[in-house]
Amino acid sequence: MKKFLPLLFAGLLVFLPAFSETETILVNPEDILHEVSPVLYGIFLEDINCAVDGGLCAELVKNRSFENESLLHPTRADHWESWTLKKEYGETELGEEDPLHKNNPHFLRVMLSENGSVTVMNQGFGGNAFRGGIPLQKGENYDFSFFLRGDAAAATEGQVKVDLTSASGNSLCVSPLLFSLKDLESPTSWTRLSGSLTVTQTKGAVLSLTFSGAGVMDADMISCMPEDRVGASWPGGGLRRDLTEALRELHPRFLRFPGGCVTEGSYLRSNAPNWKNTVGAPETRLELANTWGGMQTMAVGFFEYFCLAEEIGALPLPVVHAGVLCQARTPAEDPLTLDETALYARDVVDLIQFALGDTNTEWGSLRAEMGHPEPFDLRYVAIGNENWGGVYFNRYEIIRNAVKEAWPEITCIVAAGPVAEGDLIRDSWTVIRHRFPEDLVDEHYYMDSSWFPAHVNRYDSYPRSTHVFLGEFAAHEPLRGTRRPNNLYAALCEAAYLTGIERNSDIVDMCCYAPLLCREGAVDWTPDLIFFDDSSLCKTPSWHVQHLFSEYLGTQLVESSADGNLFQAATRTEKELQIKAVNLSEQEIPLNLEILNLGDAEGRGYLLSGDPDAANSLVKQEKIIPVPLSCSFSEDTAGLTLPPFSLIVLKVPLS
Ligand code: AHR
Repeated sequence: MKKFLPLLFAGLLVFLPAFSETETILVNPEDILHEVSPVLYGIFLEDINCAVDGGLCAELVKNRSFENESLLHPTRADHWESWTLKKEYGETELGEEDPLHKNNPHFLRVMLSENGSVTVMNQGFGGNAFRGGIPLQKGENYDFSFFLRGDAAAATEGQVKVDLTSASGNSLCVSPLLFSLKDLESPTSWTRLSGSLTVTQTKGAVLSLTFSGAGVMDADMISCMPEDRVGASWPGGGLRRDLTEALRELHPRFLRFPGGCVTEGSYLRSNAPNWKNTVGAPETRLELANTWGGMQTMAVGFFEYFCLAEEIGALPLPVVHAGVLCQARTPAEDPLTLDETALYARDVVDLIQFALGDTNTEWGSLRAEMGHPEPFDLRYVAIGNENWGGVYFNRYEIIRNAVKEAWPEITCIVAAGPVAEGDLIRDSWTVIRHRFPEDLVDEHYYMDSSWFPAHVNRYDSYPRSTHVFLGEFAAHEPLRGTRRPNNLYAALCEAAYLTGIERNSDIVDMCCYAPLLCREGAVDWTPDLIFFDDSSLCKTPSWHVQHLFSEYLGTQLVESSADGNLFQAATRTEKELQIKAVNLSEQEIPLNLEILNLGDAEGRGYLLSGDPDAANSLVKQEKIIPVPLSCSFSEDTAGLTLPPFSLIVLKVPLS
């Protein structure tokens, strides 16, 4: 801490600030305390804040299937959301007869009089084209597709012109696409048509489809995606590239998906998702009104989540519900009966077959059909999200036993509720230790920033036989207006806490920040790790902390100690030492970093520091970013200065 030197000056006692005392961190690379969990840092992706639909999912058309509904206000279900209609000699209605699939029961029906014409326009996720619309990049190609059919009258002359236009209707493409019912083998049955549009301007657009001719034409699954995307060959269509890269950069060892509360089902049992309804052809997937608003189109379904995990080098960690609705939201819980739970447990077992089974099994063959004959690297299944109490544990037991019987190698993850402290989590742990001692225990907590450094030793006292998955956490700053800031201070409190997680990484197997992604303008929850709009993204200080901790992690924890107020941890690999230190005080701290038997060496790494209240934004993305740092060790020691409110990470070669 800063010292004040009393000086007697002209008869007055004056206090002048002096430099902080030098602190020492002493590291002994040869004193190995334990292995570091190889899957310690990961990410958690839930479709909250338009993270997936309207975010990571490459689809630019909102409500492409005319299925939009509102979970919270079912009577206001709006199947036309995001569409505007311009009718000239024609009518439209929401078609329901003989749909593409029973899971996708609505479609656009256009009824044209002789020489009629109807234009339908979609604004995308960014609102109308004056405010954003569908974001287009000059020179890029966009893949368009839809399902179309006509009646006998339309079959003779029905046409659809597809274009991307400005709000005032001017084409933004080299040429529009033209589709004719006459060209189809069977113009009266649903057929998927596709084409590519080349764009001439960087601009917000609307997607416009002009139906002309006479008679009835039906359209559904109207889709437009940038050609440049990740996973274009996945059945769901793929992911936005910049956001996928921001996830890959975190070097996540696992990907927890798809929730969060959305996996539990909220308020209504019909809202509880089943993974089976999210796989297969996109037009057959069952969309669900999302707990957080909007729809989950399931364009990113379980198959695509598995593919994403593989794509970014992470282990997939699916979460399924445990036959109990989100207990935090739904006092009635509406649990499945125990018999129903036993039946449902088969679906969970089938999920593992979908990921791991031979291609001659029922679900393994679907995986192969979807384009992935090789098994996915599935090792964990979480059963339940933020559940607790007998109603949960009795159902968990049925499902986990079914899983273990069929797939003993799978680790089951049991929930310990939604809080860090108090009777609820204590009671959960008592039950879990008694009934499920082998399982990985999922803790979630969102606490005030200052709670984190104050509880850096939380896991020191946990029995060494238990295994923890910190499945959701974040440091929360006080609300400002409707949002909690993602400032440097919160990020550094998380960093301080993570040093404690690393020092306990013999029993904390995994941890991940929550939530991951947030679309500006569609905020359900703050803070978040990454903010984005249609064309850019902002990595928060917490993202930088996650990134640095993930990159500067060895395989073994080594003995290290500090004689002051710094938070620190040190790990090693065969040839290198990784050191982290966090200064949460408002004083600069001179640091002696001593590494036993190191001799002379060069350390390299990064420094993250600045105004504790500063945050990055889409406009100022780089207010808080790490800057490179190096230091020279001579006879085992290097001198460094830690600015107020700072994190340093260092790699030092070991000879
Ligand atoms: O991460 C946001 C939400 O917080 C998750 O959906 C839920 O599990 C928790 O309450």
